[in-house]
Amino acid sequence: MRLSLRLAAALSCSLLAFAAVPPAQAESLPERVIVNLTETPATSLAFNWRAEAGGGEGFIEYAPLTPGPAYPQTAVRIAAKRTAAAFTTRDQEQVSADYYSVQLTGLTPDTQYVYRVGREGAWSAWRQVRTAAAEARPFTFLYVGDVQNDIRSMGGLAVRRALRQTPDAAFMLFAGDLINRADNDGEWGQWFDMDPHRLAETPSLMTPGNHEYMKPEGAEAQQLAPQWRLQFNLPDNGPSEWLSETVYRVDYQGVRVISLDADMMDEDPQSARDQLAWLEGQLTDNPARWTVILMHYPLYSTARGRDGAELRAVLQPVLDRHHVDLVLAGHDHTYGRGRPHDQGPVYMVSNIGPKQYPLGDIDWPVRKGSGIQVFQQIEATPDRLTVRAFTMDGLLYDAFQLDKTGQGAARLTDLKPATPELILRREDR
Ligand SMILES: [Fe+2]
Repeated sequence: MRLSLRLAAALSCSLLAFAAVPPAQAESLPERVIVNLTETPATSLAFNWRAEAGGGEGFIEYAPLTPGPAYPQTAVRIAAKRTAAAFTTRDQEQVSADYYSVQLTGLTPDTQYVYRVGREGAWSAWRQVRTAAAEARPFTFLYVGDVQNDIRSMGGLAVRRALRQTPDAAFMLFAGDLINRADNDGEWGQWFDMDPHRLAETPSLMTPGNHEYMKPEGAEAQQLAPQWRLQFNLPDNGPSEWLSETVYRVDYQGVRVISLDADMMDEDPQSARDQLAWLEGQLTDNPARWTVILMHYPLYSTARGRDGAELRAVLQPVLDRHHVDLVLAGHDHTYGRGRPHDQGPVYMVSNIGPKQYPLGDIDWPVRKGSGIQVFQQIEATPDRLTVRAFTMDGLLYDAFQLDKTGQGAARLTDLKPATPELILRREDR
């Protein structure tokens, strides 16, 4: 009796469970959905995603955000560019997917929009995103260093903390080495899985690090991981086609952000010349009061045994001459911030991932740290940049501000907290 009751209960549970399962999706949903900034973020936004191979055309639907659920009725549909990709990674993964990219143009500045991507029967969730204002106006953005290792678990935890602690971030900068093995598609999957909704709602810009480059095989030159251009939709206003989406410029509410491809600059003399000539132009003809350089390799290193002397020799005179304000880097898996020259930029090295290096014997930073995961909030107003670095437990670790009312070098005010420096990674392990 008892047994049959149990059997009946089990059967009814399984029937209920069966009844509750929704009908199978005809097609897989879009994945790796991301929004990137364009060179004109007040009136355009760039989107990218991928879906199962062979699904045909893909679309974006978008509308201004409404007070209630009316937005789907006014949504406009635009076809995306589709790139069918099939390749084998160096780790012998077979990648076969259709990648989609689309740019929305003619948007209204400082306006909230909703969008979804996909096709009939396979739409993403609706996501919301905001265009920039057309003029210099206060806003806050995030900057983080290398995520790189244990992305799914420990890296993602820190990135989510940065996003949660900065709910109004206008955009997010990734300073390279987003993943560890350039074309490893499992790692890229982990990267997008860190926070799929926020990566689809907070526009981002990323610069490649050495770990996005596949080292040369035989006589070949090094190659950027194929996923970079397939799955991001970054500005294409750099010096040449072969530096597209790695070297570019964005002007956002009075701040010019410039991405340099540090690894190519280091590896290839022609690339270095191209980037330098282009950079000179971007700094000469610059309508923004504030200029921020994003590049993976630091000019001033923080990790033991490292020194960016070659990059420094080439770049620093240009950055000083044009009064660049901030140079944001990664690569060294430590933290450091300082201004080696009064009229030059403030240099920062930061690290949000779990991989940690010991600090070198360095005297250029006024605040440094090791064994910590850090993220930076940068608050920009027309006259002031305020930079705050937080450890991933949410505590303020470093802060300073730069003031400027015209062109020229900014005035630096140190605001670092009185807490002790955290030097938690002392030995080579
Ligand atoms: Fe690196």
